[in-house]
Amino acid sequence: MEKNIEHIKSEALSELEGASDPEAIKAISVRYLGRKGIVTQFLRNISSLPAAERPFAGKRANEVKKELDAAVKGILEKLASEAQRPGDRIDVSLPGRVPARGSLHPLTQITREICAIFTRMGFNIAEGPEVESDYYNFEALNIPKNHPARDMQDTFYVSDNIVLRTQTSPMQIRVMETQPPPVRIIAPGKVYRCDSDLTHTPMFSQVEGLLVDENVSFGDLKGTLTAFVHQMFDTKTALRFRPSFFPFTEPSAEVDILCVMCRGKGCRICSQTGWLEGLGSGMVHPAVFENVGYDTRRYTGFAFGMGVERIAMLKYGIDDLRKFFDNDFRFLRQF
Ligand code: FA5
Ligand code: MG
Repeated sequence: MEKNIEHIKSEALSELEGASDPEAIKAISVRYLGRKGIVTQFLRNISSLPAAERPFAGKRANEVKKELDAAVKGILEKLASEAQRPGDRIDVSLPGRVPARGSLHPLTQITREICAIFTRMGFNIAEGPEVESDYYNFEALNIPKNHPARDMQDTFYVSDNIVLRTQTSPMQIRVMETQPPPVRIIAPGKVYRCDSDLTHTPMFSQVEGLLVDENVSFGDLKGTLTAFVHQMFDTKTALRFRPSFFPFTEPSAEVDILCVMCRGKGCRICSQTGWLEGLGSGMVHPAVFENVGYDTRRYTGFAFGMGVERIAMLKYGIDDLRKFFDNDFRFLRQF
């Protein structure tokens, strides 16, 4: 009889151990401790035991009843507290996690905008290599070896005759070599120079423009660039053509764009000058036409090369060009 109650207890405990949810625990509790439960029955039957055994069996059975009761309560409490730990709980009503979405880099956006404006004016897009031969980057553009004009563009040399292109102008030669006039192209791409400060980075982007046909004049160059700036910014944004020098154009001009931020009053973006240098330009030099076999008496043309970062600085009012390359999300997310 005494063994019997111990046996009932150990069976009850092992069943409780195997149960993992409150419903199952409650069912076990009812089966052992309920009104018709096994332990309850045992207590009722004590009166049928021999008189000598009754006191001890009764005492022990009541203890087991309390112990099992406590075990059930303990397990139920443990389950309840586990259910409340946030890490274990799945809240199906929470909104799903939105995957992070990428977006175009501001320089890519500006490059596309520039290309769209010139495409509307009838220009085609041409692309070429960033690792370029000395011939296309310099010589064919009327910049012979050891000529002082090479100093204008401090260069990364891959070998004696191979360079990282310092400008998109070699695309003028590559395009003219493959087709007769008329030519009307723009060539966007990256260029490289040993250059680094607030407004110069060792890698930057240019968009080259080239138009060759009969009767092309400097007036066409001015008109085309003015139309571009008016579409890129607005019709109140003025241009200023400053006489300049490039070996592959004659005459040459550097083009400043009125500072969009201060409207010419002078501010940080334009270093108090009211203007920002945006591009180099000019009428294609006859020596360049000769290098590609174009008839210099019949054809004239204009060319330009603009700094994409400079256009972006003006468009967005950014005072440090290097921010475009820092990959700081707080900066990039604004565009
Ligand atoms: C040229 O590169 C000429 N190839 C432009 C040209 C093309 C002239 C066709 C005539 C005919 P320049 O070195 O000035 O010129 O550069 C052109 C533009 O690139 C500059 O006006 C400026 O906006 C930008 N630029 C130049 N150097 C850097 C640099 N290190 N970082 C960012 N932008 C630059
Ligand atoms: Mg310059």
